Amino acid sequence: MSGISILACVMISMLSSGYYVVASVEPARYEWDFESVNLNVDLSRVLKKVNGRFLSVAIDASLVAEEKFMYLLTSPKLRTLAKALSPAFLRFGGTRQDFMTFNPTFLHSNENHNNSVFDADDICERLELPPLLEKRLKQEWTLQEVLLDKEDLQRKYRSVKFTECAVDLLYSFTNCSGLDLIFGLNELLRTSGNSWDSSNARTLLQYCESKQYSMSWELGNEPNSYEKKAGIRVDGYQLGQDFVQLRKILQESKLYNNTGLYGPDISQPRDHRRDLLEGFLESGAEAIDACTWHHYYVNGRDTSLEDFLDPEVLNTLALKTHEVMETIELTSPGKKVWLGETSSAYGGGAKGLSDTFVAGFMWLDKLGLGAKLGLDVLIRQVLIGSGTYHLVDENLDPLPDYWLSVLYKRLVGPEVLSIEAFSILGKTKRVRVYLHCTNKKSTSYKSGAVTLFALNLSKGPARISVPVTISNSTAEAFVLQSEQPGEEGLYSKSVKLNGEVLKMVDERTLPSLQGTPLPAGEHLRLPGYSFAFYVLSEAQALACR
Ligand SMILES: *[C@@H]1O[C@H](CO)[C@@H](O)[C@H](O)[C@H]1NC(C)=O
Ligand SMILES: *[C@@H]1O[C@H](CO)[C@@H](O)[C@H](O)[C@H]1NC(C)=O
Ligand SMILES: *[C@@H]1O[C@H](CO)[C@@H](O)[C@H](O)[C@H]1NC(C)=O
Ligand SMILES: *[C@@H]1O[C@H](CO)[C@@H](O)[C@H](O)[C@H]1NC(C)=O
Ligand SMILES: *[C@@H]1O[C@H](CO)[C@@H](O)[C@H](O)[C@H]1NC(C)=O
Repeated sequence: MSGISILACVMISMLSSGYYVVASVEPARYEWDFESVNLNVDLSRVLKKVNGRFLSVAIDASLVAEEKFMYLLTSPKLRTLAKALSPAFLRFGGTRQDFMTFNPTFLHSNENHNNSVFDADDICERLELPPLLEKRLKQEWTLQEVLLDKEDLQRKYRSVKFTECAVDLLYSFTNCSGLDLIFGLNELLRTSGNSWDSSNARTLLQYCESKQYSMSWELGNEPNSYEKKAGIRVDGYQLGQDFVQLRKILQESKLYNNTGLYGPDISQPRDHRRDLLEGFLESGAEAIDACTWHHYYVNGRDTSLEDFLDPEVLNTLALKTHEVMETIELTSPGKKVWLGETSSAYGGGAKGLSDTFVAGFMWLDKLGLGAKLGLDVLIRQVLIGSGTYHLVDENLDPLPDYWLSVLYKRLVGPEVLSIEAFSILGKTKRVRVYLHCTNKKSTSYKSGAVTLFALNLSKGPARISVPVTISNSTAEAFVLQSEQPGEEGLYSKSVKLNGEVLKMVDERTLPSLQGTPLPAGEHLRLPGYSFAFYVLSEAQALACR
């Protein structure tokens, strides 16, 4: 059947704006100056289908630099928050993974690990961080962060040893939260011939298999900077060989025979990195299930509010993705591509931006554009811990990007549909729209429902009228705005859903996150500096049945 393509008119006006003042991000407009935007929608076919765990999260390996901090993972509050993000991968990796070795303390009592924290059946309930200890750990973490920051600035990394206990805590956290663990192995353990020395990894794998831990693997983090970080140079071809070696080791194990292996977790294309990726794929493509690269829009130490709202900055994701995909298509066509680590700003995030409401524009746009470009999984740096790009802050309270992520999980399915917004005046840059089938798994919406999500990067409100074929459907709106109006609000650490500030009810309960029903045919109102999901439950999209 041919595509149902429809044009609809989107009237954008600022007439109803209560607090319109001259915007600093774009030239001032006047009340009579509205633009008309067309939406082109195709509900008949799925454009791309992404992984069911598309939105995934990371915990930086720096958490284990001192093993006691791994106990933060037993916080009931954190587990409640993590559960709401499943299904998702949890990657444990980052710079420090290549400075970490497994140092088992009771390996030889082989059949019985009674010391291990993951033995009991009711482990998820039994192993909980007492409030007093949680409080102390959170305080000490603040000091630990200062140390970690210093290491990062000087690029001097201590080597770290971790025990079975760290592995158990990590695994029980992911297993009890319904997340799938990806563990990043140390690749900077080298033999005299400069190939990967796998002996420590073998010991770790044996331990994990003895515990029947179902998990997948990575090897090395940002190999393009091994020389800067450790004075070790590994070329692309050798990198690929290291992965082949790891795949062989996994195949020797019953449990990990067919498990996931992802890599090479290279930084975004620049300079020699493209050659490195090419060389890697030539020798290693067959060993991996997905090719991972890292993406950040800006440098956290040198960015601004304007960057976070700049459509040109948001569009750089497409340029970089095309570049990577081109390389992959040449050497290993069809290979899945993941953002193995991604966030707004590198260098730990931008203080006061990456952890505030404004970060949502970069995050939601990345989720929308990334899926449209055909990226299969995006792993958000980070769920908790290092830097300011976390979803959950140092008090283990959720930040605006956390709430955005939970709503995305609930409402957005893996099927990407085609939607385009364009204007006769060519002024649609600051309105960005994406369309997916509504998530069939976690919602009770009708078959054929679609979820539209939109961002307004401007100060004033937008009015979007729904395309004719779906305007007959009732809509449910989930509008996210800062707790405070205007530009000030962009720096807020609180977010409102349909006017209500989002907060956990208690440490085991999230609020219900309800939408506001809109009568059929009504215009969708998108306030300035906001983003929203609209579920059109009676859209009867062929592609979504
Ligand atoms: C391990 O713990 C269980 C339950 O407490 C006990 O029955 C078992 O004998 C212990 N095994 C060893 C080797 O200590
Ligand atoms: C958690 O562990 C149990 C028992 O090993 C296993 O059956 C289950 O699939 C695991 N769940 C996840 C999400 O890993
Ligand atoms: C791994 O899987 C292959 C086929 O999938 C099988 O032939 C082989 O015996 C398995 N190896 C182990 C160690 O289980
Ligand atoms: C947001 O609303 C303002 C005011 O109507 C409008 O000028 C702007 O284009 C809108 N931006 C988006 C991204 O819709
Ligand atoms: C809209 O819905 C009404 C009531 O469900 C129905 O009678 C009408 O035919 C629908 N119109 C379109 C264009 O689908």
